[in-house]
Amino acid sequence: MLPQWIIEKKRDGAELDTADIRAFIAGYTDGTIPDYQMAALAMAIYFNGMNARETADLTVAMMESGKVIDPNQISGIKVDKHSTGGIGDKISIPLAPLVAACGATVPMISGRGLGITGGTLDKLESIPGYRVGLSEQEFFQTLEKVGCSMIGQTAEIAPADKKLYALRDVTATVPSIPLIVSSIMSKKMAEGIDSLVLDVKCGSGAFMKDIESARALAKGLVDTGVAMGKKVVALITDMNQPLGRAVGNALEIQESLDILSGNGPADAQGLTITLAEHMLRVAEVLDLGGGVSNPALHLQDGTALQKFRQMVACHGGDLDAGLPVASNQIPLPSPKSGYVSKADADAIGRASLLLGAGRAKTTDAIDHAVGISDLKKIGERVEEGEPLCTIHSNGHEDEAQLQQLLESAFEISDNTIEPPPLILEIVS
Ligand code: URA
Repeated sequence: MLPQWIIEKKRDGAELDTADIRAFIAGYTDGTIPDYQMAALAMAIYFNGMNARETADLTVAMMESGKVIDPNQISGIKVDKHSTGGIGDKISIPLAPLVAACGATVPMISGRGLGITGGTLDKLESIPGYRVGLSEQEFFQTLEKVGCSMIGQTAEIAPADKKLYALRDVTATVPSIPLIVSSIMSKKMAEGIDSLVLDVKCGSGAFMKDIESARALAKGLVDTGVAMGKKVVALITDMNQPLGRAVGNALEIQESLDILSGNGPADAQGLTITLAEHMLRVAEVLDLGGGVSNPALHLQDGTALQKFRQMVACHGGDLDAGLPVASNQIPLPSPKSGYVSKADADAIGRASLLLGAGRAKTTDAIDHAVGISDLKKIGERVEEGEPLCTIHSNGHEDEAQLQQLLESAFEISDNTIEPPPLILEIVS
């Protein structure tokens, strides 16, 4: 069948056969189907959607466009977590070593930040020497020795997704549930895992702004994982305010170290523990007493921190060399006394981007030192003049724009405010 006949079928709202999907993705990967035909199909999918079977077929086709790690090559019970991305979401960094300390193996392939959302790889690269591009042998050795390794997507893993994601980015076809599901799951299913926990972010700082679309994405991700024979659970979590109190690469590594030392902000620490519990449950990892391991204990007793230090060393990183620090630390004073009723994730993410912590396009360099810390959380009391946050700047931003963004991010109420729940729903 000619590529344009497959595009026509989807354009007219018909269901694509498994063979259509496989042929199209194979042709796109080897270059015989050009970008303009793939873009046309992506737009047809954007408008007409895909059913669960088509989405699973697309995921398998994209996964099989590259190398699929055989789970038997990695010992232990392999489990991973994937977040759909948000502001201040550093959870993968304390979570992977924590789950490794509890006895599971975490082969984690992470991404970079794009737009206002941060990326785990960029955060890890603020540790002097940390290499995200390990060879396959080094990746396996790190997993064997430590129990977790956090690397970037290699050229071999899901190359169809690598091409298609870049194409979607410039053809306004990113926010499509079947395209997001197949993109995420094709990479996750290629990393040799037995089970997966998904953290679907919902709110102003996330792809999914409302609970209905977050629920549809969570269901699509879970159904596709299950159709591919994996154990999968999804948590829908709030992203209307940043997670934790720090946004920015080195600042989030410092906060991750705090969490791994049994401290850190209550929301980020709590979510790390909850996600670890779900990972251990879905992977059926039991401790020596036959019960599920207690992640909170591994944060308190230093074993999770030790795992993190070991993993960083295997990746060539040196935590003792110190993290980059910005030249200016500027407090943002509260205009009045009261209770924080808004700490908008979108505006704070944009402010962090303006400071240089993220990229406008994939080829931009980022500044690991800059960002925002000491963020007040919704429900907290502040006095007039007390800082709502601290800005870490190297002086390259438009100050007026930054000020305006951060001032618009916060609202202070005279009345007490209940902190919003972090975990909104669980989809399995
Ligand atoms: N993350 C991905 O990997 N792919 C998407 O399409 C969206 C988020």
